[in-house]
Amino acid sequence: MNRLEGKSALITGSARGIGRGFAEAYIREGAKVGIADINLLAAEETAAELGEAAYAIHLDVSSQDSIDAAVSAVVARTGRLDILINNAALFDAAETVDISRESYDKLYAVNVAGTLFTMKAAAKQMIDQGPNRPGNHGKIINMASQAGRRGESLVLVYCSTKAAVISMTQSAGLNLIQHGINVNAIAPGVVDGEHWEHVDSMFAKLEGKKPGQKKAEVAASVPAGRFATPDDLTGMAIFLASAESDYIVSQTYNVDGGQWMS
Ligand SMILES: NC(=O)c1ccc[n+]([C@@H]2O[C@H](COP(=O)([O-])OP(=O)(O)OC[C@H]3O[C@@H](n4cnc5c(N)ncnc54)[C@H](O)[C@@H]3O)[C@@H](O)[C@H]2O)c1
Repeated sequence: MNRLEGKSALITGSARGIGRGFAEAYIREGAKVGIADINLLAAEETAAELGEAAYAIHLDVSSQDSIDAAVSAVVARTGRLDILINNAALFDAAETVDISRESYDKLYAVNVAGTLFTMKAAAKQMIDQGPNRPGNHGKIINMASQAGRRGESLVLVYCSTKAAVISMTQSAGLNLIQHGINVNAIAPGVVDGEHWEHVDSMFAKLEGKKPGQKKAEVAASVPAGRFATPDDLTGMAIFLASAESDYIVSQTYNVDGGQWMS
């Protein structure tokens, strides 16, 4: 316990779902956490529920001004930024011939540009605040996905954004370790929550399935036999934010119940 004592973290898209689970875990480990989300009301509710170590920030990761303001808000509140989790993302599914420019632009603005430019703003802050010494590294954790490991028939755009997250993690990690900043990623498999309710309803339409059918089929295909909960991912998120991972650079870790091996 207390592996993140005194650390200041910013978690994008943490009003709900996996990001919220990470925020809870980081607070248990002693960090202060900026609950940053495009849905400010939900972020405020989540922050109030998580207690005084949490505070809400309005953030739209597709806007540079909003990213800069969020990093400034963290520094104003806690004096520094030690940990960033790039967690906010959008999902869509369609037949290849039905993919719209609008969907492509939205997913790339949030999942790819949002991850890149939030990573850039956080890294600049981490470099400025220094110093770079063992046990005092900056930590950036990007949320990839098993979807970034291989394509899926109906999920071309989302899969490609998550492949980009894996690639950006590799390049940024190689570039930023000279400043004592570790950049790594987590690739979950399927994680229960509102996101998957949305995915299930999209597949119900696209594949003519009954509500809940896709989810049940997917759960049965996981070697571990079930969906993950956000709690299944928190151990990796704490490890990658702690001094125990100071020598780990540019890696993407599968936390997926055995769905992908690499
Ligand atoms: N749930 C899964 O099965 C699963 C699997 C693999 C990877 N992931 C990844 O894990 C991460 C979290 O997933 P989740 O299931 O908790 O998602 P979710 O949809 O439940 O939560 C995403 C959060 O991001 C916020 N958000 C959306 N657009 C934003 C923007 N422009 N700026 C800031 N915030 C924004 C939303 O308001 C929401 O609170 C995502 O990167 C997702 O791709 C999820």
